[in-house]
Amino acid sequence: MTPLTEQPGWLPLVRHRKLMSELSLRSLFERDPHRFGRLSVEHDGVLLDYSKNRITSETVELLVTLARECGLEAYRDAMFSGGEVNPSEHRAALHTALRDPGDSPLAVDGSDVRPEIRDTLERMAGLVDAIRDGGYTGTTGKAITDVVNIGIGGSDLGPRLAVEAMAPWADGPRVHFVANADGWELEQVFNKVDPETTLFLVVSKSFGTPETMANAHQAMDWFRQRLGGGADLAKHFIAITANTEKVQSLGLDTERVLPMWDWVGGRYSLWSGVGMSIALAVGMERFREMLAGGHSMDRHFRDAPLDRNIPALMGLLSVWNVTFGGRRAQAIVPYTERLAHLPSYLQQLIMESNGKSVDRLGQAVDWPTVPVIWGQTGTVGQHAFFQALHQGTEVVPVDFIGIAGPVAESAGDPAQVTANLVAQSQALMQGKTADEAREEMRHKGMDEARIEELVAARSFAGGRPSNTLLLRDLSPYRLGMLIAAYEHRTFVEAAIWGVNPFDQWGVELGKELANELLPAIRDGEQIPDVDASTRGLIAQVREWRR
Ligand code: F6P
Repeated sequence: MTPLTEQPGWLPLVRHRKLMSELSLRSLFERDPHRFGRLSVEHDGVLLDYSKNRITSETVELLVTLARECGLEAYRDAMFSGGEVNPSEHRAALHTALRDPGDSPLAVDGSDVRPEIRDTLERMAGLVDAIRDGGYTGTTGKAITDVVNIGIGGSDLGPRLAVEAMAPWADGPRVHFVANADGWELEQVFNKVDPETTLFLVVSKSFGTPETMANAHQAMDWFRQRLGGGADLAKHFIAITANTEKVQSLGLDTERVLPMWDWVGGRYSLWSGVGMSIALAVGMERFREMLAGGHSMDRHFRDAPLDRNIPALMGLLSVWNVTFGGRRAQAIVPYTERLAHLPSYLQQLIMESNGKSVDRLGQAVDWPTVPVIWGQTGTVGQHAFFQALHQGTEVVPVDFIGIAGPVAESAGDPAQVTANLVAQSQALMQGKTADEAREEMRHKGMDEARIEELVAARSFAGGRPSNTLLLRDLSPYRLGMLIAAYEHRTFVEAAIWGVNPFDQWGVELGKELANELLPAIRDGEQIPDVDASTRGLIAQVREWRR
């Protein structure tokens, strides 16, 4: 694997970045009235405006060249066709197949995965319809009113995001989410639901994640305590996992298992049975619309030229800002509360996928990879951290996500929200010169001494990059498109950085150490031979708990 810095396209980009950093973003707009048309692209009701980055068409050409040299197209084709794109685990990554209605055979390790996908969707549909129309009943013959999704990471964040985003279509049982093992969410749920009418979805690809297993055990204990040992617990628990054997060890019914597969990564899995909570909330039809939206973005990613390709451009620009521009963070700001979970969902998707410092062959990488992903909804975030985005010393590229249509039926002021979104990206880009700040203050009648006192604090450097993703509406279909766009953006970054976006060895060490420390913290056993800080913290906890 040729290191990124040794690709022929690397040095031209380094030089180009130097030249570009001498130009002001504002002047690029002033010079070219057609900049928006040149540097924006639309597909099926999703528009990416990337003109407010410090780039020209030449930058895009250079980035596309580099991406090609890094084998982006071959890697992409391998992903879509079931190739081993996750070498450290010898796995394919076929989340795109989950939303592909086609029926031409798609083989992983010689066996066609299409029939399994179709069967699972059909089984899911059967269960979802029966639960939603009351045909599926609990142990006392009552219909299900509440569904509790127990899972963490990819088994939680995607469904949590989608259920909230699709809330206007929620006409099924109420859906609750429990991820953390601290007991808070679970206790809230226990206080709200009736065991006779509650269905728990235990979602875990591995079926070994300690938080999920602990919560599942507690839910089972609660259920038995409330309804007695004779109650048919199996009717109230559905497992969604790639590890059916372990389901038995939990005493659950293997008949009520929806499969996950090795060839779908946890953080790419909401399109599978992991999306059961979504389908239960809004129905199978809406769930399929979300899949169809994802598929539309897949086709676009696979077929559109790289310089007219939304996820490819998003990935290229991220590489531009991070690797060539030295930006170490990226803010995600969706301008609707219905996408409140998008920043945390993308934190896992992007940071767990690309937070790597070795390439796919295990060689150390010598260039910056994933930035810190964080964010909050607009306009709420404007009143929290935007001060730093506008005037802080750290330049943080922003992804603004806007919805053209209304997101609520009978309340709200969508125009105000949109005006804010557009104004923020404009302000970050153009800034305010000292002369403009002075002029503005003079206009307000301030005296010259006061103006000079304030002018520095009231000027804005500008030139701060952002993308705007504008969605025609926040339908299930467009939500599917949005999520798939970010999945592929992450893939494009990985292809250029040379990392494997489908493994996550980095989360293992902490898990192992937690297991080692648990007996000392929970059962008062001897503290293992650890560093002074770890020992001190454990000792303090034990003392305060006593
Ligand atoms: O945090 C690591 C991780 O393995 C994620 O990749 C995954 O989404 C999450 O834990 C949950 O895993 P599982 O679905 O196996 O319980």
